[in-house]
Amino acid sequence: MAVLTRRNLLKASALAGAYGAGIGIASRFGLAAAAPEPLILTAQTTEMKLTDAGPTKNVLSYASREMPPTIRMKQGEPFAAHLINVMENEPTTIHWHGLRIDNRMDGVPFLTQPYVYTQDSFDYSFTPPDAGTFWYHPHCNTLAQMGHGLTGMIIVESPDDPDFDAEVTLNLRDWRLGGDGQFIAQFRPRDAAKAGTYGTVRTANWQREPQYDAPAGGLVRLRLAITDVTRIYSLKVEGAEATVIAIDGNPVPERFPLDLLLLGPGQRLDLALRMPDTEGAVATIEDIRGTNPTTIARLRAVGRSLKRDTGDLGRLAANPMDKADISTAEQIPLILSATAENGAVDSICGSLGYSFWAINKAPWPGDTPDPTAPLAEMKLGKSYILNVENVTPHTHPIHLHGMSFTVLSSSTRQVPPLVSDTYLIQPDEKVRLALVADNPGDWVFHCHIIEHQKTGMTGYFRVV
Ligand code: C2O
Ligand code: CU
Repeated sequence: MAVLTRRNLLKASALAGAYGAGIGIASRFGLAAAAPEPLILTAQTTEMKLTDAGPTKNVLSYASREMPPTIRMKQGEPFAAHLINVMENEPTTIHWHGLRIDNRMDGVPFLTQPYVYTQDSFDYSFTPPDAGTFWYHPHCNTLAQMGHGLTGMIIVESPDDPDFDAEVTLNLRDWRLGGDGQFIAQFRPRDAAKAGTYGTVRTANWQREPQYDAPAGGLVRLRLAITDVTRIYSLKVEGAEATVIAIDGNPVPERFPLDLLLLGPGQRLDLALRMPDTEGAVATIEDIRGTNPTTIARLRAVGRSLKRDTGDLGRLAANPMDKADISTAEQIPLILSATAENGAVDSICGSLGYSFWAINKAPWPGDTPDPTAPLAEMKLGKSYILNVENVTPHTHPIHLHGMSFTVLSSSTRQVPPLVSDTYLIQPDEKVRLALVADNPGDWVFHCHIIEHQKTGMTGYFRVV
């Protein structure tokens, strides 16, 4: 089932009791209950046909010969996953990107949990407080593990979600493959010191330019996540009316037509796509960044037009979050810079061997047994403003674990008051992000261009 239509969803729900299926992937957990059956996620080495050159070896996934499953959860209902690691000589963890959950479930080795070694396992259980589009990935040897495939999507459903005629999920990422379809070096040091090393093969749902059918004249909820380790996208839709309804899992304050949107690694976008009325008409999702505009995926209109109108869609409910008190908020300066200090720290969770970046002058690659001091200590329940300044000539998708912030203002542009976990900060930009420190624990704050993260642009906040 390439597309989850509303009718199929109802059918699947009737069968499964509670859940439908994601793109081609049946969710294996299920009935709403206090102690849910854990979803088994087995981190493993597999093979996959990603290019015409034949199967790519040493692909990593949480399923055999498939991409990591799109996990469906329900807002406010308990979820459990049992991670089993059968990768060889690869310790791992799972981080649930964007979910504001218990610190012990956050998946950061040394800081929040021990790493899970080969043949070992770990039980994750939590209740997602927010509805929306999220994703999951390891937080140990991340460049290699994510680069080889371990990036999956999460959909947290709310009973109040508006009615769409279909849903399409797109997991967007690249692969660093040579002409023979096999992995080549995951990064080049000179690129890690700049914008990062790009992949050579681009995919959506591990396919090149996949096409899905959707009802003509229908409303499609298109959920996409940039799970690539490097690439920033400039998204555009041709051939259909596309309205932005949520960014990074949170509804936008005012819906707006998608013209062009820059999204960095780690970010998500929810679009309401109104399919063309004519059977066979195709809408394309494109990335027009750089000199080579590329098609990411296509949606083809099928059947008689449903004649839906985007204006009929109900609003997405805001996620429950305390508003920061700006008048009493304490300011925390955070400077993203390059560093000349050569302090690459070795770790069982991987080191790239270089130190290029820093936050407040301290380079730390994260996921090491000897965390540096926290960037700041926050008091539980108090409001803070993160004053983030990018003094580098590169763009950084800076990401905070465990808490959401609201974008207050930028020194260079008009910014809507988006609620998010990731902000794509431009060169020479200063941005103010407000939050309530409402989740106790150690929360990592890092650039989601993984080469930047792993060569120093990582820190953490301690909320006590
Ligand atoms: Cu996607 Cu440390 O995060
Ligand atoms: Cu960066």
